[in-house]
Amino acid sequence: MTPADQGLSLAAVRLSSVDLGLSHVLDEAELARASTFRSPALRDAFLAGRIALRLHISALTGDSPGSLEADYFCPTCRSGRGHGIPRYRLPSQSGLLRASLSRSGSWCLSAAALDRRSAGIGVDIENGSAADFDGFPSLVLTENERGQLQRVPPALKARFQTRLWVRKEAVLKALGTGLAKAPSLVDVSGSTPSGLPRTSEPALWSLEDISPASLGLPEDFAASIATWQPRDVLPD
Ligand SMILES: CC(C)(COP(=O)(O)OP(=O)(O)OC[C@H]1O[C@@H](n2cnc3c(N)ncnc32)[C@H](O)[C@@H]1OP(=O)(O)O)[C@@H](O)C(=O)NCCC(=O)NCCS
Repeated sequence: MTPADQGLSLAAVRLSSVDLGLSHVLDEAELARASTFRSPALRDAFLAGRIALRLHISALTGDSPGSLEADYFCPTCRSGRGHGIPRYRLPSQSGLLRASLSRSGSWCLSAAALDRRSAGIGVDIENGSAADFDGFPSLVLTENERGQLQRVPPALKARFQTRLWVRKEAVLKALGTGLAKAPSLVDVSGSTPSGLPRTSEPALWSLEDISPASLGLPEDFAASIATWQPRDVLPD
């Protein structure tokens, strides 16, 4: 199934193409967080990503970007305060719309879960050499993944590592923990992740690589999307 078949919408946007003059659509918490960045480039990337995500949801639902109420939640500190799992309340719909965002270099990828049964969604993008550093396999990979890496031709190893990395980040975002859960505990070599906490086991997971060309991202990027929904809401 494609992401669209699963009620998911994806959009890749060049951060520099986002009109920062639209920062007025962001809320106080978002603007307060933007003001904490010392680097103007990082601040602008933050603002552009948040604006792009609102514009994406707005284009899907017809709600104006400024009417979306951000309700982010961080399971680590048990608060929102503008960080953590992206969730939005919409004037046109009840409940919370779940979303995900990833920035890498001058690009961002946003995702929105239109299917309300979706309990978690995570996307991640990186350029192809992002995970090409000494120690990556021992720090980040499971034993099974390290075994797979050993069978990959040397010229393809960097790309293979980055592909596993974006899969892990997508899963950990969908789970809601981010890197508060050690990525080395989660195996992402298959179409469903394993090693997740017991509480999320009765869930149906999906994990897919996304072709960068299909989203207009540079060819050397790696991108992945993970989603899960409770089994008990699935039709028989
Ligand atoms: C989520 C995380 C893996 C992303 O890191 P990254 O690769 O540097 O950044 P990306 O651009 O790919 O993703 C950033 C986005 O991830 C999302 N995100 C952040 N925390 C998240 C979480 N717990 N669950 C799901 N998504 C999360 C947000 O949309 C964020 O965008 P924002 O900067 O506009 O808020 C990393 O930031 C992380 O592990 N955060 C949680 C760490 C934590 O628990 N901190 C405790 C704070 S009290």
